[in-house]
Amino acid sequence: MTIREIKKDIFTVGAIDWDRRLFDELIPLPDGTSYNSYLIRGSQKTILLDAVDPTKEDEQIENLNRLGIKHIDYIVSHHAEQDHSVAIPKVLVHYPMAKVITNAKCKDMLRDLLLIPEDKFIVVEDGETLSLGNRTIEFIFAPWVHWPETFLTYLREDKILFPCDFFGSHLATSELYATNESKVYECAKRYYAEIMMPFRNNIKQHLTRLSKYEIAMIAPSHGPIYSNPQFIIDAYKDWVSDDVKNEVIIPYVSMHGSTRKMIDYFVDALIERNIIVKPFNLTKTDIGELAMALVDACTIVIGSPTVLTGPHPVAVYATFLANALRPKLRFASVIGSYGWGGKMLETIKSMLTNLKVELLQPVMIKGFPSACDFKELDRLASDILNKHKEHKLL
Ligand code: FEO
Repeated sequence: MTIREIKKDIFTVGAIDWDRRLFDELIPLPDGTSYNSYLIRGSQKTILLDAVDPTKEDEQIENLNRLGIKHIDYIVSHHAEQDHSVAIPKVLVHYPMAKVITNAKCKDMLRDLLLIPEDKFIVVEDGETLSLGNRTIEFIFAPWVHWPETFLTYLREDKILFPCDFFGSHLATSELYATNESKVYECAKRYYAEIMMPFRNNIKQHLTRLSKYEIAMIAPSHGPIYSNPQFIIDAYKDWVSDDVKNEVIIPYVSMHGSTRKMIDYFVDALIERNIIVKPFNLTKTDIGELAMALVDACTIVIGSPTVLTGPHPVAVYATFLANALRPKLRFASVIGSYGWGGKMLETIKSMLTNLKVELLQPVMIKGFPSACDFKELDRLASDILNKHKEHKLL
């Protein structure tokens, strides 16, 4: 990644990962990502904010060399996850005088994950400040952005917030700033949906706290920098709000066409009722698209055939994911078919315990759907319409 100066003596020294397509061996990254790391050269102290993923640690050292950095006083580790921390030991080898600034919880995690020795750490508290000479940084604890140890750094004189994962986007781009806001919005929403949505209430509190700060720029650790921070702050406010939209999400799978026939009919029935519907064929969909759709939707309807005695395994996967992500859904139901029996419905219901949803009468049929089964699908579509109307969504 080319080194760039975002303000006088503040540089990006991280790496763009153009090729990465999967994170945690789970999360699709269709647009790649970046591991942003920032170097601030104060009049008295030089500080590095976060490091990079293990695949890019040589690139980070090269960047520091090219910038002619001979001395680093501090490395701030906002978050122990490996994509921001693994290069820290290598930076310490090249800059042995540097100390790692972090909080107590993150220190424990860094010790466990990276075996950094105890005497390398400086532990800071929430609200503590550190002078770099002509610049002052303040540490703002923000636990459970998605891990418990996360904190942010605020550069007071320049009004720049460095929030690590918070506000980030998995997007590899040569654009330093979020100039293509619609593209960055999609990538940031995907990122929020995949890892932060379960912590919506914590994030709401962090946003309230940050509203007391004057923020001119947000420089996250993934994706482009926000020179218009209100854009991403407003997006987050919307995502974490309690408001839901007139949308039905349908993750489904079909083996021999019975469930598919039901889904096709049901999708049309919802469209006829002026409900936005987003079906996801689970054998083809990008699971990140499903996660994004769950951010705003009012209702989920899971479609599955019966395999042996339970739901199809890919429907189990989607149901597990939806439950784990804790979206602000209000209603749920199930559509599916069976050949001779089974406990598909009970199994799916038992997997939705994290969701504060009202379960609407499902439509379970034997074999291929008949005329009376389609009537039942109309009944479920009307039930959803009535519930959405009660919530004043249309
Ligand atoms: Fe980008 Fe939670 O790591």
